[in-house]
Amino acid sequence: MTTSLPPVADEHIAEQVALAARRGLTSYPKRLPPWLFYDEAGSRLFEQITELPEYYLTRTERSILASHAGEMIAQAAGNSRLRIAELGAGSADKTRLLLTAAVASQGTVVYEPLDVSESALAAARKRIEGEISGVIVEPRRANYAMGFDLPPAPYGERRLVLYIGSSIGNFDSEEATQLLLQVRAGLNTGDSLLLGVDMVKDAATMLAAYDDPAGVTAAFNRNLLVRLNRELGADFKPENFAHCALWNAAKSRIEMHLESSVQQTVRLAALDMDVELAQGERIHTENSYKYRPGHAEAMLHATGFTHQATWTDAQGWFTVCLGEAL
Ligand code: AVJ
Repeated sequence: MTTSLPPVADEHIAEQVALAARRGLTSYPKRLPPWLFYDEAGSRLFEQITELPEYYLTRTERSILASHAGEMIAQAAGNSRLRIAELGAGSADKTRLLLTAAVASQGTVVYEPLDVSESALAAARKRIEGEISGVIVEPRRANYAMGFDLPPAPYGERRLVLYIGSSIGNFDSEEATQLLLQVRAGLNTGDSLLLGVDMVKDAATMLAAYDDPAGVTAAFNRNLLVRLNRELGADFKPENFAHCALWNAAKSRIEMHLESSVQQTVRLAALDMDVELAQGERIHTENSYKYRPGHAEAMLHATGFTHQATWTDAQGWFTVCLGEAL
């Protein structure tokens, strides 16, 4: 496994940031893991990204959920009562569509957001409990990438795990397989997983989603340096780094990099470390893998799920798959 996996818990964040920066900036090529994006400012910038016209992922997935939430819930439930867990504390209005469908079919539903961050969990509880009556929020502090210790669903109930939003897209195929195996290990036969993945499409459409003209994604990318300045006493000059998004066709992924526009030396005081960057040298900050038809289903099969159903939009831009734990 690699440093692209998020840290275990809030208390370890400072060490994990230091370790990720030390490892990534002494590697060749240089890299920093994408979980570093999500400090407070980064989380706000990501929310803004999801509202950009170019960032088709969120609204496309939302439209799929809006059209099919009832079926998704019915198929996951079978004849049982359903409880809904989510990897990550809330994709806001998308999660709401599924919770609302569950409340409509069974009156109430237990919602279990899983997140490493206590503050993200508290925010999810406030948001969801206040807005949808019939939802009982039971937040769980966990790093789902390391497996999760949810108590098994009560007898006669089934659990539906949501892993939506193309979050799995940050992981290469080996990491993604590991992660799904961990998820499967925490489930009972008959429980299910709803997986949302972004599909390969024309490169211009994908690239625009990661390089918007308003510069929000560029700010999101550079914010990582602002974070290291604050948390590691570094002296990155964000204006000396260009936001760079590219389509790597061979690896089926969008990559984001920060490209040094000058030859420069950056000091990271907390690490007692100086980092040299040549002009044009890049720091690789994110991979967002894009899937082909059948790929998500094959991954479900490979990790102990039978494929139950696939939903997509009219253009085939985004796919939501349901797998049932074998
Ligand atoms: C949250 C990982 C799904 O890869 O599309 C958005 C993050 N990066 N714009 C994605 C992101 C740049 C996003 N995921």
